[in-house]
Amino acid sequence: MSVKTYFVTGGCGFIGSNYIHYLFERYDNIRVVNLDKLTYAGNPANLKDIENCSDYVFVKGDVCDSKVVEEIFQKFRPDFLINFAAESHVDRSIGDPGSFIMTDMYGVYVLLETSKKYGLERFIQISTDEVYGSIEEGSFTEGSSLKPGNPYAASKAGGDRLAYSYFVTYKMPVIITRASNNFGPYQYPEKLIPLFVTNALEDKYLPLYGDGKNVRDWLYVKDHCDAIEFILEKGKEGEVYNIAGGNERQNIEITEFILDYLGKPKNLIKYVEDRPGHDRRYSLDDSKLRNLGWSNKYDFEEALRATIQWYVDNRDWWRPLKSGEFLEFYKRHYKMEL
Ligand SMILES: NC(=O)c1ccc[n+]([C@@H]2O[C@H](COP(=O)([O-])OP(=O)(O)OC[C@H]3O[C@@H](n4cnc5c(N)ncnc54)[C@H](O)[C@@H]3O)[C@@H](O)[C@H]2O)c1
Repeated sequence: MSVKTYFVTGGCGFIGSNYIHYLFERYDNIRVVNLDKLTYAGNPANLKDIENCSDYVFVKGDVCDSKVVEEIFQKFRPDFLINFAAESHVDRSIGDPGSFIMTDMYGVYVLLETSKKYGLERFIQISTDEVYGSIEEGSFTEGSSLKPGNPYAASKAGGDRLAYSYFVTYKMPVIITRASNNFGPYQYPEKLIPLFVTNALEDKYLPLYGDGKNVRDWLYVKDHCDAIEFILEKGKEGEVYNIAGGNERQNIEITEFILDYLGKPKNLIKYVEDRPGHDRRYSLDDSKLRNLGWSNKYDFEEALRATIQWYVDNRDWWRPLKSGEFLEFYKRHYKMEL
């Protein structure tokens, strides 16, 4: 069998790095090219164990830069492109929407245009459940209307629909995935689970928005990577696939689970002013994907315990990240020192 080349963008981030690990654990005969701008969220340490592997190529660059994207196509002729690259933190999109519009929309355009020029087997656009907006009851299907409620979600919706338009207009082999909230190792510690675990480990406050009752559906990142690979192989061109965790929890439940696991007191929880436009509940119906034959492999509570333990065991990974710009953002955003 010929060696397949995966062009992964944003591979130094949370899900991208887990996906690259997943690929190398699963296959012997592949090549991975990772294009990452190394923003504050991109961390080469996430892939330290494979950085010298001959089947892995890292390119530092921007998905908005058509020259660098074209060079990759010319040199490596990828079979598959999986676009993880994004500005991904809702809180930051409220203060600085411009960078989100560039990467999450214009960047998708550059990748699509170049893919169209050179051709490939699959273009997977990693979208998100946030494009649907909030839902009080029931769950969104792939046919539900998109009502993104913050600049991050809106720019992701733009990239999502642009990718679809390249299927309709140019017959490109595009598939779009919309997953729910991920958790797992290598997640930048500004996001809820790693932030709360690492703060609790240092006996710092856990800033919980509003009444703590916003609901998220949690998907273990290893299940997410497995679902993406399944969709790449078995999914149909031009389709959207929701990927749910099937584990809806209020933020307060997750917070208390973390504190209980670590044996830390509940008075570390500090309720803070809700963020503007905070979606109340996300919920996905992913029966389309399940009917195709995919299912989660990990138990939620076991995966959550393993994730918390990973941050306990990997202080050298996250400690350097909670400094400099992180602290400035934290102070500005939560109106308190860390
Ligand atoms: N984390 C979640 O819960 C979740 C859920 C559903 C979908 N998603 C989507 O999955 C993808 C990955 O999310 P994540 O949580 O791993 O994000 P992340 O912020 O951890 O990683 C993003 C990566 O993209 C890189 N990047 C940013 N701008 C770039 C640019 N212009 N050019 C090249 N690289 C760039 C960053 O350096 C970083 O390595 C995103 O598209 C996100 O919208 C995330």
